[in-house]
Amino acid sequence: MKLHVADHPLIAHKLTVLRDERTDSARFRQLTDELVTLLAYEATRNVRVQPKQINTPVCATTGTQIAQPRPLVVPILRAGLGMLEGMTRMLPTAEVGFLGMVRDDDTLEVETYAQRLPNDLEDRQVFVIDPMLATGHTLEMAIDFLLERGVSHISTVCLVAAPEGVNYITERFGDRADIDVFTAALDEGLNENNYIVPGLGDAGDRMYGTA
Ligand code: URA
Repeated sequence: MKLHVADHPLIAHKLTVLRDERTDSARFRQLTDELVTLLAYEATRNVRVQPKQINTPVCATTGTQIAQPRPLVVPILRAGLGMLEGMTRMLPTAEVGFLGMVRDDDTLEVETYAQRLPNDLEDRQVFVIDPMLATGHTLEMAIDFLLERGVSHISTVCLVAAPEGVNYITERFGDRADIDVFTAALDEGLNENNYIVPGLGDAGDRMYGTA
């Protein structure tokens, strides 16, 4: 697994407003969308492309288009949904699948309660979106689930990651080159409730106003 921590003043600025407890849900969703757009630029650097013949008003030329099979974007429900719009804006030809996963806060066990994915995932490039990489247990399960179905590459895009989660994923998947994690920030750690510190609180609650 390779970790990519964004290093960009715009990302740092937007993330600071996102973290602020005074930021309301509407602004939180908008900032999430903007951050995903910026992160997607890096996360899609290795998206597979193929040549495409076109005619400009001046001459024929060979351009580039995203290759088949199309990339697949997979939000982890619920909070990952808030990142979907930003990701698909950058990858409009991508297919979208859904994974609903919930973690028991006491046992850390993760349960998959919903999945809606294409039947054939063989050789697909997948972009998993989930704002918070906390313990890493949810992401581990999502990665296992996708690898078992034959995907060729998984890039995870998150907003905030905890070192504990990053270490857990690194230990679990080693240095395999087909797994990347992109995050806007690598925070200090987890508190006793497995919330990221300083973090931004419960991402789903802040997005959907159920805090
Ligand atoms: N999930 C969240 O929404 N926030 C955290 O800090 C950790 C996990």
